[in-house]
Amino acid sequence: MTSRPNLTRKDFPNGFLFGAATAAYQVEGHKFGGAGPTHWDTFAATPGNVLRAEDGALACDQYHRYGKDMDLLKDGGFDAYRFSTSWARVIPEGRGAVNREGLDYYDRLTDAILERGLEPHLTLYHWEMPAALADLGGWTNPDVHLWFGDFVEVIDDKIGDRMATVATVNEPWCVSYLSHFLGHHAPGRRDIRAAARAMHHVLKAHGEAMTRLRDRGRKNLGIVINFEHTQPASDDPKDIQAAATQDATNNRWFIEAIAKGHYPQEALAGLEPHLPKGWQDDMTAISQPIGWLGVNYYFRQLVAHDAASPWPHTKPAQGHLATTQMGWEICPEGLRALLVNLKDRYVGDLPIVVTENGMAWDDHMKNGVVHDPERCAYITDHMAAMHQAIAEGVNLKGFFYWSLLDNYEWAFGYERRFGIVHVDFETLQRTPKASYHMLKDMIARS
Ligand code: FCB
Repeated sequence: MTSRPNLTRKDFPNGFLFGAATAAYQVEGHKFGGAGPTHWDTFAATPGNVLRAEDGALACDQYHRYGKDMDLLKDGGFDAYRFSTSWARVIPEGRGAVNREGLDYYDRLTDAILERGLEPHLTLYHWEMPAALADLGGWTNPDVHLWFGDFVEVIDDKIGDRMATVATVNEPWCVSYLSHFLGHHAPGRRDIRAAARAMHHVLKAHGEAMTRLRDRGRKNLGIVINFEHTQPASDDPKDIQAAATQDATNNRWFIEAIAKGHYPQEALAGLEPHLPKGWQDDMTAISQPIGWLGVNYYFRQLVAHDAASPWPHTKPAQGHLATTQMGWEICPEGLRALLVNLKDRYVGDLPIVVTENGMAWDDHMKNGVVHDPERCAYITDHMAAMHQAIAEGVNLKGFFYWSLLDNYEWAFGYERRFGIVHVDFETLQRTPKASYHMLKDMIARS
C-alpha cells in the first residue's frame, strides 16, 4: 500500500472504538503488591532466554502510575483501554488463597479507567502462568482448565460487572506453540507432545471460562487470537505445501476449533498422535458461541519447505518488504485480507475488534521529543486496511494500538519499543511520541 489517505474518526462507523492495549506482566511491575512468581520470572532468570536476562519485576510500574497512564489515554481522546489481569498477582500459588492486595489493584484500575470515561476491555490471561502451576506442567496439565476457571471466577466477582468486554486468553498460539514447540517464550519447551497438549488445553480453558462466565450471565465474552499473513516463499509446490501447513498450525487451529468445532487436517497430520486421549469430547465446549473476536495482527511471514527437519517440514524465509525492529515484514494488505477471510470463512457478521497492531522501532528521545515517522506510517497504512475491510463488509468494531507504553517485550526485554508513549526505563518518565499526537489528531471528536 503506497498511498496514505488521511483517515480520521469520521471515516469509521459510528461507535468505532479507538484504544490502546497493554498486558499485566509487561507494564505493572510484578514485584509490587504480593504477586507470586510466574514462569516468565523463571524463564528470564535462566541464561540465554531473554535479552540481558531482563524480567517484569519493575516494568513500567503501572501498579503505582496507572492514574497518570489513564490520563494519557483520556488526553489523547481514546475511547478504551485493553489490559489484562495477572493470575499470579491475584492467586500467588495459582490455586487457593487469594491475594486481596493484588485483586484490589484491578478494582482501583477499573475505577480509574471508568472515571476518565474510558471503556475497560479485559483479557483474563496474557501469559504469566503462576510458577507453582508451571511446576505441575502448566498448560500441559489436564486439569489446567479447572484451575483457570477458578481464577476467572475470582476476577469476575471483583470487576466482571464493569467490563465492556472480556477476552478469555490472549494469543493461544503463543501460549502453546511458540512456548512449547518453538521454545521462544516461557516455559521455553521444544517438545511436540507438550505443544499439542498445550494447544488443546488452552482452548479447553477458553471453553471452561466461557461456560463459567455465561453461567453468571455475562454476555460480552470473546477470545484474542493472533494471525500472521502466511505466504509460500516461492511457487514451488513444496513451499506452497509448507505454507499451507504453517497456515493450519499458526492461523487456523484456534479459530477453526472455536468457529467450527474441529481442527484443520494439515495440522492434525503432525499433532494428532500427541493430543490427549478423548480430545474430541472437548470440542463442543470449545466451540460454544462467542460474542466477539479479537484479532492481533502484525506481519507477513514467508514459509519454505525444510526437507531436513521433521514435521511440519517448514522454515521461515525473508521477503523483500520493509521490516520493523523485530524483523517483521510490514504488510497492511495482510490485515485487510485476514479480516475479509475471517468474515467469509469463519465468523460472518460477528463483531471483530483489532485488539493489537503496532510496531517496534529503535526510538530515541531528542530534546524531549520522540519523532517516529515509521510508526506513524505503519498506523496510517493499517488504518487504511481496516477501513477497506469495513467497506468490504467486515463488522469491525474497534482498533487497539499495541502498545500504549514502551514495555517489557518478553524475550526481547526492554529493548524493543512498541509504545506510542516513550518510557525512560531509568526514571520511568512517560513522553508521548509523535505517533501519539498523530493518533490524537486522527481520533479527535469534532
Ligand atoms: C503480541 C503480544 C503482546 C506483544 C506484541 C508485540 O504477540 O500479545 O504481548 O508482545 O505481540
